[in-house]
Amino acid sequence: MAQELAVQDTCVLVTGGAGFIGSHTVVELLQGGYAVVIVDDLSNASVKVLDRIKTIVGDEAANRLSFYEADVNDRAALEKIFSENKIDRVIHFAGFKAVGESVSKPIEYYSNNIGNTLTLVDVMRNHGCKSIIFSSSATVYGDPDSLPLTEESPKKPATNPYGWTKWMIEQILSDLTVADPEWDVVLLRYFNPIGAHPSGLMGEDPKGIPNNLLPYVAQTAIGKRSEVHVFGDDYPTPDGTGVRDYIHVMDLASGHVAALAWMNGKTGVEIFNLGTGKGTSVLEIIKAFSDACGHEVPYVIDPRRAGDVAENYADCSKAEHEMGWKAQYGIAEMCRDSWNWQSHNPNGYNE
Ligand code: WQD
Repeated sequence: MAQELAVQDTCVLVTGGAGFIGSHTVVELLQGGYAVVIVDDLSNASVKVLDRIKTIVGDEAANRLSFYEADVNDRAALEKIFSENKIDRVIHFAGFKAVGESVSKPIEYYSNNIGNTLTLVDVMRNHGCKSIIFSSSATVYGDPDSLPLTEESPKKPATNPYGWTKWMIEQILSDLTVADPEWDVVLLRYFNPIGAHPSGLMGEDPKGIPNNLLPYVAQTAIGKRSEVHVFGDDYPTPDGTGVRDYIHVMDLASGHVAALAWMNGKTGVEIFNLGTGKGTSVLEIIKAFSDACGHEVPYVIDPRRAGDVAENYADCSKAEHEMGWKAQYGIAEMCRDSWNWQSHNPNGYNE
């Protein structure tokens, strides 16, 4: 049995904790009473987010936060972290995540995402820490045979190296629990995380041209981009544009806190979908964002993007029944908070 711990006695290592989902999860963990250690190489994050986290949570909680700038693939750095801190649980976000980029850079994606995971679990094992939550993705379901997607829906071959890394890491972590029954693994399959912290102090800050829809819409709304390029309006969906299950990043963060509580003292591997159970189209997102920012967001219809599926959305009843977790925010709040962040931080963390 993995040791059952009280929240105030639990220290959580968050890899990639300075990133979009990681930083929002760190806020929820600190406000929930956990001690948190962030390891992040800042390759896709800003060190400024640390001050934003501390401002949001206040001094008492900020005293329970430590930060190490390091690559998770750096074994010596991980050994130092585990030697200097009593790490009880790990939430593993660190990884490259651009679908399109992964197609042109498979070596970088496999060596980084798979390599850093293997190093991480080896160092965890050396220090007797065998509880991990992995940041997986609905992308492992591929093009669904039927909707909504449940945790029993079949995993499909990925359509890009990014998706394969999520697929393979799920397999690696599941195999750990077969080899050593002391391992306690939770795989959280995210749908489409969007939104920002309600304070407007933290949000999504992609480097370069955004790959994902919401940051592109937000940057168009502030005039940084001239128009949104809608990738196809000839899908078999109500308005012809792609449908996804968008989930507020704050709901995603609370899902991680719920998973930590649920897995406390357990062993084995468990999978949970984290979504809202509702599908929203690209054009509906653009309309909702226009309502949130108070002006039209211009767009043009482009050809479909290679590798995109027409529609996917989740059945999240397992997370509700087992963890007592359910997404609280709708599309209007996601767009409201995303606009609040973007309009107050037009250049993200790079003031
Ligand atoms: C959403 C919809 C596009 C951009 C991927 C990963 C997933 C997760 C989120 C990484 C689709 C359309 C998009 C644009 C558009 N991981 N779109 N114009 O592809 O569902 O999921 O990102 O963070 O694991 O698979 O997200 O936001 O790229 O696309 O029309 O400029 O918006 O066709 O229908 P996706 P997305």
